[in-house]
Amino acid sequence: MTRLIEGHPEDMALISKVSVPAIPSLDDAGESLWVDVIHRMDEVYAELLRNEADLERKNADLEEAQSFISSVFASVSDILIVCSSSGTIKKVNPAFLNLVGRTEGAVIGSSVFDYVKPDDQPEARRIVGAGQGGRVVEADICFLRPDGSEECLALRSTKLADGSSRQFGAVLTGRPISELRRAYQALHEAHRELQTAQRRLIEQEKMASLGRLVAGVAHELNNPISFVYANIYTLDRYRKSLVRYLDALHGGAAEDEAEKLRRELKIDAILADIDPLLDGTIEGASRVSDIVKNLRRLSFTRAGERQPVDLERLLRNSVQLAAKAKNASAQIVFDTVPVTLPNADEGQLHQVFVNLIDNALDAVSGRTNPLVEIALRKGKAGAEVSIRDNGPGIAVENLGKIFEPFFTTKQIGEGTGLGLWISFTIVEDHGGRIEVANRPEGGAEFTVVVPG
Ligand SMILES: Nc1ncnc2c1ncn2[C@@H]1O[C@H](COP(=O)(O)OP(=O)(O)OP(=O)(O)O)[C@@H](O)[C@H]1O
Ligand SMILES: [Mg+2]
Repeated sequence: MTRLIEGHPEDMALISKVSVPAIPSLDDAGESLWVDVIHRMDEVYAELLRNEADLERKNADLEEAQSFISSVFASVSDILIVCSSSGTIKKVNPAFLNLVGRTEGAVIGSSVFDYVKPDDQPEARRIVGAGQGGRVVEADICFLRPDGSEECLALRSTKLADGSSRQFGAVLTGRPISELRRAYQALHEAHRELQTAQRRLIEQEKMASLGRLVAGVAHELNNPISFVYANIYTLDRYRKSLVRYLDALHGGAAEDEAEKLRRELKIDAILADIDPLLDGTIEGASRVSDIVKNLRRLSFTRAGERQPVDLERLLRNSVQLAAKAKNASAQIVFDTVPVTLPNADEGQLHQVFVNLIDNALDAVSGRTNPLVEIALRKGKAGAEVSIRDNGPGIAVENLGKIFEPFFTTKQIGEGTGLGLWISFTIVEDHGGRIEVANRPEGGAEFTVVVPG
């Protein structure tokens, strides 16, 4: 039996290479052997075709993967360097070529350290070596551009391993930070300028506040001093009339002549006016003395030392002092917890609390069941002291003015209007704040918050 073998001439060549056992005879056994052989040849051929197609597909996949990796490599904006353990460059991306201004051919095989600024070379060697340990190491390294300028990179080094995890180099990735550094430097400068401007503003504000104070002092002193002057001028006039009258008496003037002079010189009116004139003068002088005393109190408390302050004890001392000085009959209730400020000026804070308690005692004096409540607790923003009274409260139109220097609603000789202004300044110096509110049930409440 014959069998027609179809196929390509090259396939025929392959078939000829397949070893075929010798044909003993053309009997049935021999024929089946031939059929077997031809069958096997068919199978081998089909397998070959399959392998070839497989190979072509893998090849295409490989090419696709390679072009994908190349395009990823090319589009990475960070710098990418693959080098051996000794720093010999194996592969770089276009970002690196752009930086050093060379072609890929010129760079591959050269040492990565050739492109590093000499000062940074030891650090660059360290991170290429350290990356071998398997850790990611980082350093700021400056590279040199072709024109000699520097480009600093935040460089990260990781190990480069082969298929069996053996290390044979390092992968370096770097992000330019020169721009960032410049921006940081500019930010730093701007911050410094801002601080200087702020200091200048604070100085200006201090000067303005000092100016306001001086103007206030001038205004406050002007009033008593001018009536002291006027009184003294009048007293001098009176003195002259009295001297004339006494001279006439001592010169032996007749009674009717002395009487005439007494009327002419208004001696009786003068004698009646001397007492109130002297009282007014003394009042004016004591007002001047009060203002000066308060101003000295302010300047003395400026240079105190900061130290831990037991606020609870300080509040009790302040109440004792204020109540004793005023001879107050008000009931004083404490609701406090122990609070220590770590860094405060005890003398200054003492003054604040005495001022506030003074005001509260003034507000409740003459009222039925006068009551001042003092609370101390630890809040989120620091120590919170509240001083409440059941006095008349503060007129709404005065709420915005009470912290101004010389604002007072008290009678002449009872207040200078400096207590709250001094207290406000002190609390602000401690980084805290004073707030005031009228209580719904009547009376005023001052709250002092000091951080710590
Ligand atoms: N607890 C209070 N109740 C009602 N009014 C108050 C209270 N505390 C302050 N005031 C008002 O605020 C004004 C200013 O107070 P501040 O302590 O600055 O000055 P003063 O008490 O008038 O004088 P000084 O404290 O200098 O002797 C007071 O005159 C008063 O009108
Ligand atoms: Mg006061």
